[in-house]
Amino acid sequence: MNGKGAFIAFEGIDGSGKSTLVRLTYEMLSRRGLQAVRTKEPSSGPIGRFIRAQIGEMDGRMSAWALALLFAADRLDHAERLIRPSLERGLIVLSDRYLYSSLAYQGAEGVSWEWIRELNRLAPKPDLCILLDVSPETGMRRIGGRPKTIFENERLQERVRRLYLELVEEGEIIRVDAERPLKEVQRDVNLLVQELLKGRGIIDSKSQ
Ligand code: TYD
Repeated sequence: MNGKGAFIAFEGIDGSGKSTLVRLTYEMLSRRGLQAVRTKEPSSGPIGRFIRAQIGEMDGRMSAWALALLFAADRLDHAERLIRPSLERGLIVLSDRYLYSSLAYQGAEGVSWEWIRELNRLAPKPDLCILLDVSPETGMRRIGGRPKTIFENERLQERVRRLYLELVEEGEIIRVDAERPLKEVQRDVNLLVQELLKGRGIIDSKSQ
């Protein structure tokens, strides 16, 4: 439970459509007169900016363990700076990526979940996390052109996807098939978000 607001995270491999769905969800909430904030990880704070420079560096790349520490530091900073204060003000926070990106991406490079979870123990838990699930072929096709980060190659994306699906099996995140037309994906995402907001008394339980 996160104060009076609600915390929703969107996850998926690169090219899964997270930023589009975050925008469409934000617009849906605004139309209903609900106040939301859009955010993402790596964050726009100092650690997030440092991470972006690191993961864009194709040669001499940083170790997965060092990156796990940086992503956790960025997350705790992001939580203090933006997530917790927004939830306390009763806002709905929509985050493009969160803890599950660390479990999937750094996990895919051999870092243990136990350690990643320990590093992130103080980060607030989302009320809902939606996995936009696409195949690596679809993701890579949607990104197009040359990879922008060290993570954008099909073999790694396949391992990342498998770990996300394990989190679905464990009931931590909810899978939405994002290979389908955008309208259908959007409808499923809206239903999940509305169900959460009804459960939390943020919208009327009888409204559509
Ligand atoms: P991404 O969402 O692709 O940023 P943009 O759309 O602006 O290019 O995020 C950058 C990369 O960071 C992405 O490939 C996943 C990776 N990442 C991790 O490996 N671990 C994490 O904990 C997070 C938040 C992101």
